[in-house]
Amino acid sequence: MNETSPQKEIRIVPSLLAADFARLENEIRAVEAAGCRSLHFDVMDGHFVPNLSFGPDLLAAVRRLTPLKLVAHLMVDNPGLFIEPFRKAGADGIIIHPEIGPDFDQVFRAIRETGAEAGAAVKPKTPLSATDAVWEELDFLLLMSVEPGFGGQEFIPGSEKKIAEARRKAGNRERFLPIGVDGGINLTTIGRAAAAGATDLIAGSAVFRGEATLNVRRLAEAARKGRGEKPPGDE
Ligand code: DX5
Ligand code: ZN
Repeated sequence: MNETSPQKEIRIVPSLLAADFARLENEIRAVEAAGCRSLHFDVMDGHFVPNLSFGPDLLAAVRRLTPLKLVAHLMVDNPGLFIEPFRKAGADGIIIHPEIGPDFDQVFRAIRETGAEAGAAVKPKTPLSATDAVWEELDFLLLMSVEPGFGGQEFIPGSEKKIAEARRKAGNRERFLPIGVDGGINLTTIGRAAAAGATDLIAGSAVFRGEATLNVRRLAEAARKGRGEKPPGDE
């Protein structure tokens, strides 16, 4: 497979950070209706990032609501403490940051030992090389296109260069690498991210502000267009 033009389909992955927590079940049903297959949990501890969001109990509640794949993006200082709790809560995937420091590799492998998919996320200023030690083992790579901490921020211009670099680098791996982009993904930025090689477009505000089912459908269409694909039915 030629990695620079990934064959894998585009996935819109809603970030629950932007969902209305008072109507969480409705919000999940709305994105299920649009065909979403996974949900993204932006877990923040107020240390690694200057915001506090939610913990494993929210994921456990959502686990009881839906069969969708649940992925926890741990923007926390000591993610090793939370691998077990999130896995027990029902997380199918757990993503951690190499910026946590020297025990990144060991925590990454601890995720894999639980049977969960293991991903790495890098902040905008962190080079891809920060994931070199686990590059071959990655089940998922997440590129932040905003400084992590808050939803509703602007996509950092030029983020697509890093996406393209990651997609090129992924070409040397045995297995296909799903590449996610997180932050400021909306109708005007999603096409660039998809064209550069992203497969999983994480979106909070662009999904949950307004009518979520319609928003997801529009985002998926814009992503496919960005990748030069015809809308389904036009083939
Ligand atoms: C930042 C968060 C956001 C969130 C998406 O730490 O990770 O990127 O997922 O937020 P929106 O889609 O609203 O930019
Ligand atoms: Zn995230």
